[in-house]
Amino acid sequence: MADTVTNPLAELYSERARRFGERGMSNPRDSAALISFFAGFPDPGSLPRNDVAEATRVALERDGEWALQYGASSGDPELVRELLAKLKRDQGIQAGAENVIITNGASQALALIVDMLVNPGDVVLSEAPTWMGAVRAFDAAGAETREIPVNEGGLDIDTLEQELNTLSETGRRAKFLYLIPNFQNPTGFTTTLERRKKIVQLAQTHNLPIIEDDAYFDLRYAGDTLPTLYTLDDSGLVMYMGTFSKIMAAGMRLGWTIANPAVIRQMTGLKSEGGTSPFASHVAAEFASSGTLTEHVHELRTLYHSRRDTMLKALEASMPAGTTWTTPEGGFFIWVTLPDGVSVRELAPASKDKGVEICPGFIFYFHGKGDNQIRLSYSFADEPNIQKGIKILGDLVKEQLTT
Ligand SMILES: Cc1ncc(COP(=O)(O)O)c(C=O)c1O
Repeated sequence: MADTVTNPLAELYSERARRFGERGMSNPRDSAALISFFAGFPDPGSLPRNDVAEATRVALERDGEWALQYGASSGDPELVRELLAKLKRDQGIQAGAENVIITNGASQALALIVDMLVNPGDVVLSEAPTWMGAVRAFDAAGAETREIPVNEGGLDIDTLEQELNTLSETGRRAKFLYLIPNFQNPTGFTTTLERRKKIVQLAQTHNLPIIEDDAYFDLRYAGDTLPTLYTLDDSGLVMYMGTFSKIMAAGMRLGWTIANPAVIRQMTGLKSEGGTSPFASHVAAEFASSGTLTEHVHELRTLYHSRRDTMLKALEASMPAGTTWTTPEGGFFIWVTLPDGVSVRELAPASKDKGVEICPGFIFYFHGKGDNQIRLSYSFADEPNIQKGIKILGDLVKEQLTT
């Protein structure tokens, strides 16, 4: 049926649906026609098609009848086993099956945590700017989000402490603090070890749950690996989220949360879809157990490291004085602050007209900042296109400065 002018259901929509609005994620294929620095889409050419085909064949031969069946809400046991081994080896996280839930991407994990904890009007604390998925999830839940800035060393501790003290003084308690300590989305900043320890200490003092979103942990190209907040905490306050999207394939739609068993049980209770794709889970378990995941991550680090360097060089060559940007030690993103007089509200459409897609800074804030900022993702476009695209962008910024 054609879209009618009046929607007979519109007046019945829940408050939550109204707050979410109608906009979903765009199709990455549409971005492939452009030079796209827009989203955190993995490099299309790096997606391990042959290895996934082989893992699928082996998984189906070995355990096909269960791979094609419904699955447990908490996740496929084989994938849980492989994940726990990976987390112990790479992240230093010691956990058991009772600490894990597998979800439809980290996106679903965050949605479940929000469902579990947030009523409209509740206070949540979040880094700002932050991942737009979190902005949408907290806004749709009707949370009163207090922004904690991020800078060179990561989350700003003084602001966090002030917020927590103000909350205590007014007899309120935040439902959680959400942060992305490694190669933060969108800024690329990493929270230092000293600050991680301080955050955990403050969390313990104020009984503050923490959502540690570590989507990019494995994609470090420089500097030392830092301990997760999960391992620094011994009080069960940290929920540690991750994803196979950036290290295997986003299309698998597999993510996870590690947390204390009671929290995992409650998240499991909120999950109602017949198990996160048992098929994808069996394939990912095989991919991980055969060592292919580890090899693939090594290749990805080399690929994205080189892309990051190419983008940094291109920015140096093309951007006018007064433009600043971050140098991430890993992940997918560079955060650019434009010179005075340049607005992303004009720059983004002008750039798209010239075939270059960028992500405007304002979508990463809860309370309307970021008009002079952009996030550039170097994961999706190849190096010649990164050079070409940044040159086009630099020319547009210069043009806006002179008009
Ligand atoms: C910080 C962060 N968290 C979570 C996600 C969601 O990942 P998934 O594909 O697992 O839902 C993303 C994806 O871009 C992200 O950047």
